[in-house]
Amino acid sequence: MAKDPVRVLVTGAAGQIGYALVPMIARGVMLGADQPVILHMLDIPPAAEALNGVKMELVDAAFPLLKGVVATTDAVEACTGVNIAVMVGGFPRKEGMERKDVMSKNVSIYKAQASALEKHAAANCKVLVVANPANTNALILKEFAPSIPERNITCLTRLDHNRALGQISEKLNVQVSDVKNVIIWGNHSSTQYPDVNHATVNTPSGEKPVRELVKDDAWLTSEFISIVQQRGAAIIKARKLSSALSAASSACDHIRDWVLGTPEGTWVSMGVYSDGSYNVPAGLIYSFPVTCRSGEWKIVQGLSIDEFSRKKLDLTAEELTEEKALAYSCLS
Ligand code: NAD
Ligand code: LMR
Repeated sequence: MAKDPVRVLVTGAAGQIGYALVPMIARGVMLGADQPVILHMLDIPPAAEALNGVKMELVDAAFPLLKGVVATTDAVEACTGVNIAVMVGGFPRKEGMERKDVMSKNVSIYKAQASALEKHAAANCKVLVVANPANTNALILKEFAPSIPERNITCLTRLDHNRALGQISEKLNVQVSDVKNVIIWGNHSSTQYPDVNHATVNTPSGEKPVRELVKDDAWLTSEFISIVQQRGAAIIKARKLSSALSAASSACDHIRDWVLGTPEGTWVSMGVYSDGSYNVPAGLIYSFPVTCRSGEWKIVQGLSIDEFSRKKLDLTAEELTEEKALAYSCLS
């Protein structure tokens, strides 16, 4: 029997991530090839005409799974009945700007959209915040949507996770699908800590630790970390625009694994509400290694954290604590 359609909201749908993301959702990349979807697309009035153009293209593409499209500049209409909300709308970082520069522009947007989601989304709506500063926007959304369970509000660090997998695969000249269990700790910013201490590669002679195969500890503890931390800035420098296809694809990975589950023995990185695990301060949206089952994520427990890693985990937590204070100061 055919499944009922799932309503998926994409905010900022006329923007460049939106343009890459909505066809992926309509093709089943996010929720599976047997899951019909109804797309809700929100943007602001100056982008209304472009948004309508995206809607026209969705019709023209004749996606079999796409059962309806709502394209609107009204947040209430956009949020009504949605089961999944991918929050991409906002002001993007431009060359030379730090994430903090875009903070004040974005936190007020997230405060307003929190209320619309809280009042009008379907019960148990899952929220993924992509727009930067992603962790802090998600935190603001959580604070101003108190009736949405905190476990339902997450932010995107899967792009950083995928970037880390990509770098290891290039370094070792192995398939990216054979690399697993890297971790992104903390903020989606240049203080994030890409950690390979528990990562492995599937080789013809079994699973081997990344550290054993790379052999170059200096590369792993300096260049690798900074390449992943700075990859967003490198893309902006190269394209004069921030990453879009990789962000859209990673947003699909994030929701797919959350809803459909992570493969056995594999974890992924998600920005989630900290419960104090690994001595990360509670009350931040912080990227942890998680496994997902039956639509629920769970932080992977019991991983060893060496002294080098501890410092990195604390540094990015400090930045998030500062961002939280700055966000509140922008709202007052
Ligand atoms: P973009 O400027 O191309 O698109 C943003 C869209 O949001 C625009 O169409 C704009 O009109 C719309 N918008 C602005 N205010 C809005 C509001 N209040 N409600 C609804 N829509 C609104 O930007 P982009 O390149 O698509 O990037 C979007 C965001 O994603 C940026 O904040 C960017 O920094 C962030 N980003 C995050 C990651 C990540 O991994 N977390 C990766 C890449 C980009
Ligand atoms: C990215 O990681 O590509 C985005 O967050 C863009 C940015 O601002 O770095």
